Amino acid sequence: MDKALLSKTAAAMVARGKGVLAADESSGTCEKRFKSVNVECTEENRRAYRGLLFTTPGAEQYISGVILFDETIRQKANDGTPFPAYLAAKGIIPGIKVDKGAMDLALCPGEKVTEGLDGLRARLAEYFKLGARFAKWRAVITIGEGIPSHACLYANAHALARYAALCQEASIVPMIEPEVLLDGDHSVERSEEVTEATLRATYAACAAHHVSVEHLILKTSMVVSGKDHARQAPVDEVAERTVRVLKRTVPAAQPGIVFLSGGQSDEAATAHLNAMAAMKSLPWPLTFSYSRALQNPALKTWRGEAKNAAAAQKAFHHRAHMNGLASMGKWKAELERQAA
Ligand code: 13P
Repeated sequence: MDKALLSKTAAAMVARGKGVLAADESSGTCEKRFKSVNVECTEENRRAYRGLLFTTPGAEQYISGVILFDETIRQKANDGTPFPAYLAAKGIIPGIKVDKGAMDLALCPGEKVTEGLDGLRARLAEYFKLGARFAKWRAVITIGEGIPSHACLYANAHALARYAALCQEASIVPMIEPEVLLDGDHSVERSEEVTEATLRATYAACAAHHVSVEHLILKTSMVVSGKDHARQAPVDEVAERTVRVLKRTVPAAQPGIVFLSGGQSDEAATAHLNAMAAMKSLPWPLTFSYSRALQNPALKTWRGEAKNAAAAQKAFHHRAHMNGLASMGKWKAELERQAA
């Protein structure tokens, strides 16, 4: 466990004005995203698309790190450079998704537990050699009638903590991602309650497994209304509730917190981050680690055509720039300045 390296990596991931691009969609998720723009989900198309994002000129001004998928960490840019080396040369830290996905949790209908601990120590050692300096593990918490159950919260927290400990042992910064889904018709109050219970369980498990909070990044969902709930909490309320829960549960010693976009619109994800980052006296830097909210416009512009690559890069650069501003609480002021 190289603590100096872990500290350096974690600090760089949440450097001021920058955030993380999640490009670690499993092949199944990628298939869905590509289908929405009529692109065949082949290995070469996945490489071409991700290469387009990674080679966007100037992206490194706003992107501190990229989460890769197992396939992607082994692929190469058009010039033949392996993606991890390409990114590192630009000053972008390569990261890797190491979980094996959320599976049905036995005897807990409607709930999931994330798998992937078996053999993880050896996989981490290989990923470190391939250039990965941080990792991601996503747990999925569903809100519904009588759920999440205690069993679900604790099974997922236990797995997150075991994963985080293995990462730190391998000098790879663990990004722990307990995602409370926004699917459903629950209220924002319920979302706040479940997010708090999830984070409490997660940090209790991390403490029990000797995970060092100084070398840990939280990737969390925001406290938003269920997507089918009649009342959608406005931006300031989402920001206030999310920060309240984080202050109650996340140790101040942690180097930073990043957010997932979870199906929010691109602009909502930016507005929410901006409202939180603009708050005074937060104990940790807050930034983004978005997949959809960073990639949507680029994917829609690209549509699998090489001739659209430059325009797609421009669209990606724009969202990265807007979210970079939002991570400093400067996005709204910039919009107002442009409108004036
Ligand atoms: P979204 O921003 O699309 O939610 O993806 C982030 C992520 O990495 C989910 O694991």
